[in-house]
Amino acid sequence: MKIDPHRVICALTSVLDFVGIDEVQHGKRVAWMAESIARELDWPDEELGFAFYAGMLHDCGVSRASEHRKLTDALLWSGADDHCLRGENYLLECAPLRRFAPVVRWHHTPWSVLASQELPERVKRHANLIFLADRIDVLQAPHLNTRQVDDAILMARDGLVETVREYAGHLFSPALVDAFASVARRESFWLAMDPFYLLEYLENYRLASPVSDLGSAEVLALARLFARVVDAKSPFTHEHSVRVAKVARRLFELADGDADQIDNFEVAALLHDIGKLRVPDEILDKPGPLDRAERAMISRHSYDTFRILNRVFPDSPIPSWAAAHHENLLGTGYPFHRGAGEIDVATRVLSVADVLQALSQDRPYRGRLGSHDVGMRLEAMGDEGKLDDEIVHLALLNLEELYHLATVG
Ligand SMILES: [Fe+2]
Ligand SMILES: [Fe+2]
Ligand SMILES: [Fe+2]
Repeated sequence: MKIDPHRVICALTSVLDFVGIDEVQHGKRVAWMAESIARELDWPDEELGFAFYAGMLHDCGVSRASEHRKLTDALLWSGADDHCLRGENYLLECAPLRRFAPVVRWHHTPWSVLASQELPERVKRHANLIFLADRIDVLQAPHLNTRQVDDAILMARDGLVETVREYAGHLFSPALVDAFASVARRESFWLAMDPFYLLEYLENYRLASPVSDLGSAEVLALARLFARVVDAKSPFTHEHSVRVAKVARRLFELADGDADQIDNFEVAALLHDIGKLRVPDEILDKPGPLDRAERAMISRHSYDTFRILNRVFPDSPIPSWAAAHHENLLGTGYPFHRGAGEIDVATRVLSVADVLQALSQDRPYRGRLGSHDVGMRLEAMGDEGKLDDEIVHLALLNLEELYHLATVG
């Protein structure tokens, strides 16, 4: 599949931005600052690119807004290592992005500790650069207006440089702090982080990055990485996407789906709930029924899924399949209110797989159902016309196998 790795990383950064709820574009600002500081130090081009992408990806271990808040509220937080380890783990399992794993692992470790570790010098340099850029972003946050960067940051920057200087040698490498102090004198360094200019900066970077032809295995590995970030968002969605994908892939085979499309279909299944990263944790974890506003908030997730996936897979059915998993054959689903005639077999399969997996998993408002009860519920939804009854029938014929895929291993 022809895929633009730059778009993939930008999309991942954008979904991670959702976790910040109102503290958005953190990853992009960190990328800009890391690259600018590295440029000031005359690092070679490949190292600048590496610093940029490491900045974009550094917080891929953060799925919950509560954790995001801890990381952005204070300069140092003793629980910070958890997301470094999680991020490292995700990246190690994703071959196309594995090279960023060590930097993500060490991006909250003080220089005084890092300098004496037995690690390649390059890893230490990059990890500490990301730590520095990340912490500068926390320090500048009170002076940022999310809509535009105004003069507040220009007034505050000298104080900010002084604060960072106090940590030179302790948190940050002195050479990096000096380079930061020198770029910080330039208004352009700060003003480039205005959201409009930041997007342009990313877009230009895209032009510089080659589009590569990734094999299915690599695309699936990337999709699994995204899926793990989404599934970690709530204890109640633990492995939901990953298991829906297993059920959906098998059901797609049973339904004689187009064999050429099966990997694409699995990608759609892995990513169907990616828009959920935008839903506040409290709503996903709420033990009781949701009120109207909360339901509205949840129901936007499939449209957000559509928009995110359109950026990564613009010429494929993946965004549409993934986004339509809450459509139904009565035309009362969301977000497009498609009628039965507009819902293809793959989408029908994904909807059944999603319901099957969700029913077999604990939710805050009910316990998990056994396979027999899952079958009854699917059948009822098929009878009501909400799910395709032929696909439901296939699922019932293979219920034990599918239930196993939905719940075990
Ligand atoms: Fe972090
Ligand atoms: Fe969903
Ligand atoms: Fe789902």
